[in-house]
Amino acid sequence: MNSLKGKKIVLGITGSIAAYKSCLIIRQLIKRGAEVQVVITPAGKEFITPITLSALTSKPVISEFFSQRDGTWHSHVDLGLWADAMLIAPATASTIGKMANGIADNMLITTYLSMKAPVFIAPAMDLDMYAHPSTQRNLSTLQSYGNHIIEPGTGFLASKLEGKGRMEEPENIVSQLEHFFEAQSAPATSSDLSGKKILITAGPTYEKIDPVRFIGNYSSGKMGFALADECANRGAEVTLVCGPVSSAMQLSSPTVKRVDVESAQQMYEACHSQYPCMDAAILCAAVADFAPETVAEHKIKRTGDDMVIRLKPNPDIAASLGAIKSPGQALIGFALETNDEESNALSKLRKKNFDFIVLNSLQDKGAGFQTDTNKISIISAEGKEDFSLKSKKEVAKDIVDKLQHIMAK
Ligand code: PMT
Repeated sequence: MNSLKGKKIVLGITGSIAAYKSCLIIRQLIKRGAEVQVVITPAGKEFITPITLSALTSKPVISEFFSQRDGTWHSHVDLGLWADAMLIAPATASTIGKMANGIADNMLITTYLSMKAPVFIAPAMDLDMYAHPSTQRNLSTLQSYGNHIIEPGTGFLASKLEGKGRMEEPENIVSQLEHFFEAQSAPATSSDLSGKKILITAGPTYEKIDPVRFIGNYSSGKMGFALADECANRGAEVTLVCGPVSSAMQLSSPTVKRVDVESAQQMYEACHSQYPCMDAAILCAAVADFAPETVAEHKIKRTGDDMVIRLKPNPDIAASLGAIKSPGQALIGFALETNDEESNALSKLRKKNFDFIVLNSLQDKGAGFQTDTNKISIISAEGKEDFSLKSKKEVAKDIVDKLQHIMAK
């Protein structure tokens, strides 16, 4: 299904070197059947010409409050009503600051302030500007207004902000819009799971080494979020215990109760406070099995050629919930494997007292961390069922179908 077909998108372009990438965004949006109206800031025009943009969109580009040709007034209010979504890409620190503070000194900001449709913001700037507390504060403010931040490329491990700043790639920006509209057009909720309370874990855990470093993993939270949305769509009361995921990760269901945690210990405590009153739990989080024995108070300095960090085991959340599981409760686990997949999954199924386990392997292309797709097998005492590569949304349906089946027994 092409969820962008017929959608009206206002594309805001600001003064960043990444402005040339808006041409690729426009091409991809139009290819998917969307209508695009560009609104550009005066600084944006220094980086890309309105002629190029109007040729790509087949519409005059809006930049001033009045058309230079005939003095017609460009109504930002009408644009706000016309659009199905507004995307600001690239969004500079200056525009982000003006948006967060209502400084309406150009057509793009007035359009933003009049916008009735969801707004997506793709920041583009250098790392220092992106990491500056004022930029981070403005982005948090915009997020608290319900805007969707399309985060720049994320660095792994080390510092949370490492590698960020550069605008996300056009195809990822467009696919985030696509997913948003896809979720919106999902069929009305069914009530198959109404009255049921379901706990879901998602994302990675971060285990602190010192104030700037941690041990983490590549989990994005996509699989867990898809499960939370699917259970909520079927009428369940869902609590999502979520490790540190990108702020671009958004639930489409407004009813999911989200509890944010950082470490495995915090996830353990949140899960134990919730599970006793739950009908089921699906443990999709990639929990670190070990954490540094001590957390340095100050940033560790480089002293010699090597360094040893002593690790201590983290609690096994799944096994501890499996140990207190009562007869009416279901417990579903995941196994992420790289080798000996089936035997490892089977041993986790038994050790952790799961009703079934969802196996995904890093040997399968398009499966596991970060991807929008997954390829799973469901293993239970009854045997193994293999599924083809599908979107994580579709995979979530297969898993929740199976959960519903065992809950109905
Ligand atoms: O988040 P995405 O980018 O979408 O990626 C999805 C995913 C790959 C993270 C997901 O599909 C997945 O496989 N999640 C489980 C990853 C994992 O940690 O697997 P495991 O085999 O190490 O753990 C087995 C089970 O025990 C899991 O249910 C896990 O949540 C749980 N566990 C593990 C360790 C621990 N200390 N406590 C736990 O509860």
